Amino acid sequence: MNSGLVPDCNERPPLRWLLLYLSVGACLSFLPHQAVADDFGEDWPRTEGYEEVGYFCGACHSLAIVKQQGLSRAHWDELFDWMIEEQDMPELEPEEREVFLDYLARHFNEDHRAK
Ligand code: HEC
Repeated sequence: MNSGLVPDCNERPPLRWLLLYLSVGACLSFLPHQAVADDFGEDWPRTEGYEEVGYFCGACHSLAIVKQQGLSRAHWDELFDWMIEEQDMPELEPEEREVFLDYLARHFNEDHRAK
């Protein structure tokens, strides 16, 4: 007995499939944005410069090694020099360096310790 629940493919209009494809495409196009939002992790505070610092410092190593540090501004400055000289980190523009140091000293200062 056909209860009517079994779909009858012959009656399905092609337009529905077109709409389905379009909506699946629309959903997929949102995915990259979500991935970006999660790139840095929740314990990467969203204040000025967080994207620049996050992408730059996360390019070579996990941000976890940044987060677990607690350094003064001067120590971060020294660490930049060390990474530039020893680890092939590209030299930073002076303004860029200021933004990076402000961000790191603000959130990952000496009193900061990873939980
Ligand atoms: C060009 C690649 C590169 C970039 C860009 C880079 N680093 Fe590093 N960094 C390294 C390497 C290589 C190490 C040593 C890795 C290791 O010991 O596993 C390192 C180590 C570190 C350490 C650990 C230092 C220690 O005492 O063990 C910290 C903290 C750090 N980086 C922070 C940063 C921050 C903050 C930035 C962004 C301003 C950054 N890194 C950008 C390459 C880079």
